[in-house]
Formats: sequence, structure tokens, C-alpha cells
Amino acid sequence: MRQKIIAGNWKMNNDKEETKSLINSLKSISFSKDVKVMIAPSYIHLSDAAEMLKDHKIDVLAQNMHFLNNGAYTGEISPQMLKSIGISKVILGHSERRIYYNETENSLKQKIKAAIESNFEIIFCFGEQLSDRKKGKHFDLIKNQLKIPLFHLESNSWKRIILAYEPVWAIGTGETATPNQVQEMHSFIRGLIKQNYNDDLANSISILYGGSVKSKNSKEIFSQDDVDGGLIGGASLDFSEFVKIIESI
Ligand code: PGA
Repeated sequence: MRQKIIAGNWKMNNDKEETKSLINSLKSISFSKDVKVMIAPSYIHLSDAAEMLKDHKIDVLAQNMHFLNNGAYTGEISPQMLKSIGISKVILGHSERRIYYNETENSLKQKIKAAIESNFEIIFCFGEQLSDRKKGKHFDLIKNQLKIPLFHLESNSWKRIILAYEPVWAIGTGETATPNQVQEMHSFIRGLIKQNYNDDLANSISILYGGSVKSKNSKEIFSQDDVDGGLIGGASLDFSEFVKIIESI
């Protein structure tokens, strides 16, 4: 059975008090043991979040990290620093990092290598732009986004990988991919893992969907065969909405 996961990506939102209050509210809920709940607060609040959730089932993720452990990289945070505050999970390759901070398949390859060497669990994000889909290039594009950073890894390293398909045109726009479009892409992605590795590995990898998931559309998306959960942006900032999404899986 693949792990079901709902992860909240809080992006650059929530100050210290808002972060603590949302974490305390989430701690008060006992979610089904079948679903793994994760949250990704901003860097400045990760220490607080890790401390508050130390003995709790909710996992804390960083939203990004550097590939080196230290050095002259102003403004960056390293795997070692995260480990030292009890964080060993990270989101890599989010489209906002690719678009605004020029992350590429090659830089993500370095980050993934570093994350695996430091025993991190990784939610790896990827997805096409609307123009790619309109030109019918979305499958090729997704294949390339996965190939360079991931398809050279040893099978064993895939234990640390969670995939998150996030079509850029659906992120924060209110436009969601239809359940059919999501299933079609997730099944394509699982097929690529089969081709590059084997059926067992492909069937063990959790593939999340992200892009304007709300409580009103989550159930239908999560009920698709190859969808194992969601990476939730805007709706994860609203406590009751996020809880409804978690409970819909
Ligand atoms: P959204 O963001 O749910 O606000 O569309 C998803 C994401 O960026 O991971």
C-alpha cells in the first residue's frame, strides 16, 4: 500500500504567532492513521515548528535547501543546519523556485543528491506551463523534468522520494486540472518509473497532485487510482479548509 500524504506548503505566509496558532490547531485534531500530514512553514519558523511537533505525528518540511553544508552563500540554508534543528524533510523543485530563482534540472540534481546523502525525505515538484500543454508537449516536458534529477538514482534512494505533479497553470490560480487530466499524468509518471526501474518500485512511490486543491475538489482528485495525496498551498493556510482536505482522502 502506498503512503497517502497531505502536505501543506505555507510558502511566504504566516508570522510567528500565526504559525504557532495554526500548528496548535492542527495538533488538536486526531487524523486517520492512514494519512501522513506534513507542513512546510517558512524558514524562520522551522525551529519553532520542529520543537512544537517533536513528539507529534505531523512532519515538518523545509521549502527548499542548498546542496552544500556550509560556505559563502548569503541567504542560503544547508542540509546540516536543517538537521541540527530536527528537520529531515524538504520540498525541492517547486515551480516558484524554478521560475523566480532559476532552479534548473541540473541544479535540482545537485540538491537531490545532497538531500539523499544527508538522509532527507524529498517532495520533488514538477509540472508543465499552460503553453506546453496547449502545444501538446506536456508529457515530454514532464519526462525531462524527471529524467535529469531523478532517473540516475539507485532504486534504494527512491525510498526517500515523494513526487508532486503540479501543473504551473493550476497553482494559486483557482484553475484545477480535471481529475482525468491528473490521473492521465500520474499514470504516465508511474509508467516512466516502470520503464526506468521496475513495477514494484513504480507501485511503491507516492505521487501527489498540487494546484488549487480545495475541500470542494479534493475528494474527486484523491479518488483517482494513481493519486496518493496532495501538496496544498493556499488552502493549507486556512485551518478548517486544510482539515477538510485531509479528511477527504
Ligand atoms: P495552491 O499551491 O494550492 O495555492 O495552488 C500549490 C503549491 O504551490 O504547492
